[in-house]
Amino acid sequence: MAKEPVRVLVTGAAGQIGYALVPMIARGVMLGLDQPVIIHMLDIQPAAEALNGVKMELVDAAFPLLKGVVATTDVVDACTGVNIAVMVGGFPRKEGMERKDVMSKNVSIYKSQASALEKHAAANCKVLVVANPANTNALILKEFAPSIPEKNITCLTRLDHNRALGQISERLNVQVSDVKNVIIWGNHSSTQYPDVNHATVNTPSGEKPVRGLVKDDEWLNGEFITTVQQRGAAIIKARKLSSALSAASSACDHIRDWVLGTPEGTWVSMGVYSDGSYGVPAGLIYSFPVTCHSGEWKIVQGCVCSANETSSFFCILHCVFLTQSIAFWVGRLVSRLVN
Ligand code: NAD
Ligand code: LMR
Repeated sequence: MAKEPVRVLVTGAAGQIGYALVPMIARGVMLGLDQPVIIHMLDIQPAAEALNGVKMELVDAAFPLLKGVVATTDVVDACTGVNIAVMVGGFPRKEGMERKDVMSKNVSIYKSQASALEKHAAANCKVLVVANPANTNALILKEFAPSIPEKNITCLTRLDHNRALGQISERLNVQVSDVKNVIIWGNHSSTQYPDVNHATVNTPSGEKPVRGLVKDDEWLNGEFITTVQQRGAAIIKARKLSSALSAASSACDHIRDWVLGTPEGTWVSMGVYSDGSYGVPAGLIYSFPVTCHSGEWKIVQGCVCSANETSSFFCILHCVFLTQSIAFWVGRLVSRLVN
């Protein structure tokens, strides 16, 4: 029997990530090839005509799984009945800016959209915040939508996770699908810590640790980390626009694994609220290694590394904690100011 359609909201749908993301959702990349969808697209009035153009293209593409499109500038219409909300709406940074530099503009958006989601989305709606600064926007959304369970509010660090997989695969000249279990700790910013201490590669003679195969701790503790941390800026420098297709694809990966589950023996990185694991203050939205089953994520425990694997790990992690704590209080302050 055919499944009931799932309603997926994409905010900022007339923008460049939105334009890459909605056809992926309509093709079943996010929720599976047997899952019909109704896509809700929200943007602001100045982008209304462009948004209508995206709607026309969705109709023209005749996606078999697409059972309806709502294209609107009304936040209530956009949020009504949605089961999944991908929050992309906001302003991207330009060359030379840090992600926190778009905070004041974007945080106020997340405060007002939180209330609309809380009141009008379907019960148990899963929320993924993509717009930067992603962790802080998710925290604001959590603060202003207290009736949405905290476990349902997440932010995107899967792009950083996928970037780390990509770097290892290029370095070792192996298929990216054979690399797994990297971890992005912290937030989607240059203070994140990309960690390969538990990552493995599937080889003809079994799973081997990435560190043992790369055999170059200097690269793993240095250039690898900064490349992943700075990849967003490198894309902006090259494209004069921030990443879009990789962000859209990673957003699909995030939701797909959350809803349909992670493969056995594999974890992924998600920005989720901290329950105090690894000493991260409870309530922060922080990127951890997680596994997902039956639509629920769970933080993987025990991912600590021995001193000789990387002496810088705890030092860098400490810096990430500090930055996150500052982001938490700044986010709270900004949210009060825009109240
Ligand atoms: P974009 O400028 O191309 O599109 C953003 C869209 O949001 C525009 O159409 C704009 O009109 C719309 N918008 C603005 N305010 C809105 C509001 N209040 N409600 C609904 N829509 C609104 O930008 P983009 O390249 O698509 O990037 C979107 C966001 O995603 C940026 O903040 C960017 O920095 C962030 N991003 C995050 C990641 C990640 O991994 N977390 C990756 C890439 C980009
Ligand atoms: C990215 O990581 O590509 C996005 O967060 C965009 C940016 O500003 O870096």
